[in-house]
Amino acid sequence: MLAAAALHGNGGPPRSRPRLRGEAAAAFRLESGCRPFRPGTGCRHQRSLTVQTAITRLLGIEHPIVQGGMQWVGRAELTAAVSNTGALGVLTALTQPSPEALHDEIRRVRSMTDRPFAVNLTILPTLKPVPYEAYRDVIIDSGVKIVETAGNNPAAHVPALKAAGIKIIHKCTTPRHALKAEQIGVDVVSIDGFECAGHIGEEDIPGLVLIPATVARLRIPVIASGGFGDGRGLVAALALGAEGINMGTRFMCTRESPVHDNIKRAIVNNTEADTCLILRSLRNSSRVARTALAQSVIDMEKAGAGIDRIGPAVAGAKGRRVYEEGDAEAGIWTVGMVQGLIHDIPTCAELVRRIVSEAEVLVNERLSRLVGLSQPSSDR
Ligand SMILES: Cc1cc2nc3c(=O)[nH]c(=O)nc-3n(C[C@H](O)[C@H](O)[C@H](O)COP(=O)(O)O)c2cc1C
Repeated sequence: MLAAAALHGNGGPPRSRPRLRGEAAAAFRLESGCRPFRPGTGCRHQRSLTVQTAITRLLGIEHPIVQGGMQWVGRAELTAAVSNTGALGVLTALTQPSPEALHDEIRRVRSMTDRPFAVNLTILPTLKPVPYEAYRDVIIDSGVKIVETAGNNPAAHVPALKAAGIKIIHKCTTPRHALKAEQIGVDVVSIDGFECAGHIGEEDIPGLVLIPATVARLRIPVIASGGFGDGRGLVAALALGAEGINMGTRFMCTRESPVHDNIKRAIVNNTEADTCLILRSLRNSSRVARTALAQSVIDMEKAGAGIDRIGPAVAGAKGRRVYEEGDAEAGIWTVGMVQGLIHDIPTCAELVRRIVSEAEVLVNERLSRLVGLSQPSSDR
């Protein structure tokens, strides 16, 4: 049962279907035997499956799944664990206190995996200047082959990265910014919907509209980001024309993630309603965990406070304490709405296998059956 199974079901004659963009360039391939299971109930698969898309081919990875850059979370252990599953692990440059420390962290990733991985360079306006060029040059000098840029227009970094043969994934939140990124030469756009953790942008477009709207405007491959956590999401993203998914919150809640167990358990217990938006008044909107501290920031914003008053409450160093010490009120911490779909703390390998298995079963069983039933009765 090879690629065709995804589009034609199991054994029946091929039916004509609307062609997804680039076939969503997807092919579902089973390499040995898998028992059926219900999505979301855990995987009892015995076969290894692959979903191949433009992204897997371009980045040299096995599964069209990317772990988004995560401040304080995207360290070597998680990056390597994700890459070892055949997905793309992403090390977060600015989690390291200096470019030299990033150099060492990249070496640590390499000591744990020989698979492709990326480094995230988040170029946000900061109160304290960050030596972005120096971080970028360490990435280049270390021989990293994939970079995820985010937070701002990456134009200043594109020529140097391209000259080094690096593939650039740029993450943004509107089709307009995605088009601009394509024009300045990035290879892939990762489009982050309103559901996502962290910087949501200011236009609040949810993925269901944002993903196809972006795909329609671009020629380069698009990765869908924000709200993805299982095989249903992967299939939905492919149906919307994306070539893969990017996940932050879901990978934060895995065994290898360097986040305190209290926070992982909070994510499991929280619902999709347990996030909120802060910093809208500063046009730096961020989706974070709904905590008493986050509510106090919203109250300050409503009262017209400026960065001088809000800044200390949202300081990154406090957020770091949350992840390291497990006190959810020690600082602001980032999490997405998808936490409402997260019910366990699997290893990265279990998670990626499960997502791909769920996607395969969804396509080959539920979707094939539904499309089969839609044939006109005179044809049967
Ligand atoms: C704890 C955490 C920290 C994050 N930090 C960053 C960051 O430093 N840079 C960045 O580009 N994105 C960051 N993100 C966003 C993720 O890369 C990704 O775009 C987002 O999590 C996707 O939404 P999801 O959480 O619904 O999967 C962060 C996300 C989380 C959960």
